[in-house]
Amino acid sequence: MNFINANGATIPAIGFGTFRVSGPDTERMVSHALKAGYRHVDTAQIYGNEAEVGDGILRSGIARADLFLTTKVWVDNYPRKAFLSSVDESLKKLKTDYVDLLLLHWPNEAVPLAEQIDALNEVRNAGKVRHIGVSNFNTALMNEAVALSPAPLVTNQIEYHPYIDQSPVIAAAREAGMSLTAYYAMADGKVFAEPVLREIAAAHDRSVAQIVLRWVVQQGIAVLSKTVSEARATENLAIFDFTLTSGEMAAVSALAHGNGRIVSPDGLAPVWDVAA
Ligand SMILES: NC(=O)c1ccc[n+]([C@@H]2O[C@H](COP(=O)([O-])OP(=O)(O)OC[C@H]3O[C@@H](n4cnc5c(N)ncnc54)[C@H](OP(=O)(O)O)[C@@H]3O)[C@@H](O)[C@H]2O)c1
Repeated sequence: MNFINANGATIPAIGFGTFRVSGPDTERMVSHALKAGYRHVDTAQIYGNEAEVGDGILRSGIARADLFLTTKVWVDNYPRKAFLSSVDESLKKLKTDYVDLLLLHWPNEAVPLAEQIDALNEVRNAGKVRHIGVSNFNTALMNEAVALSPAPLVTNQIEYHPYIDQSPVIAAAREAGMSLTAYYAMADGKVFAEPVLREIAAAHDRSVAQIVLRWVVQQGIAVLSKTVSEARATENLAIFDFTLTSGEMAAVSALAHGNGRIVSPDGLAPVWDVAA
């Protein structure tokens, strides 16, 4: 396992994702993933499976201290009172007294950003959260959040895969000492038919999924990976024993195009940064 260090946090480079995973599958897969060697699990209040993530962790037998656990506060819970009680509720469901990382799931201008950042700091100071960060923030919001926060932000969790050029937000995060965490690395399944990726996969005797996950972590960016298959979870973890050449890295990055973004929900998405 490789780690990403950012503003005091040590984040396992690959995390097991649980978006769109049912309760029973969540418990089964989180338990399997941890036994297989994952040490980073990503959930969110809105996924509706925090309780089963907690059950899966207990079932795995892995010590809590050995695990990096992330959850995200949903946008409706950003007013201070709701924020604080929602975090207590998350901890109860997750059956733990702290999470390693707590994120604002999406921007929400209905509540001042300063109030959201204060609440993140309040739960951090109370020991309920080790590290804080954001998700789906553009560079302007990210820099505003950094300036407002007494405690450093450690990550911005964003959509990232071969079809999207995220260089503006990557550069801004690095400038702030923050990491990036990539979601949707498989571009909702689009990567599997990509000839360039298939060719690189064949050259390394690896799967397309492994090539894409390797391409992310080789940039010093953490990556999330979701699957309901035990075999795929194990496969996706095997990305730390080979290296892509600089030519291969560039060939994957060259797949990006202007309309590669997949996740941009109305009413939540900010004005996205556009790469030069
Ligand atoms: N912050 C946010 O707003 C946000 C948004 C989206 C996601 N996320 C986080 O990021 C995580 C990852 O994103 P994602 O859920 O879209 O998943 P993903 O890791 O991009 O995978 C997408 C799909 O690829 C399939 N897959 C995975 N490994 C495979 C393999 N080796 N071979 C063939 N198919 C494979 C999976 O299907 P099967 O299950 O059928 O194998 C999965 O449904 C989420 O679970 C969540 O934790 C965060």
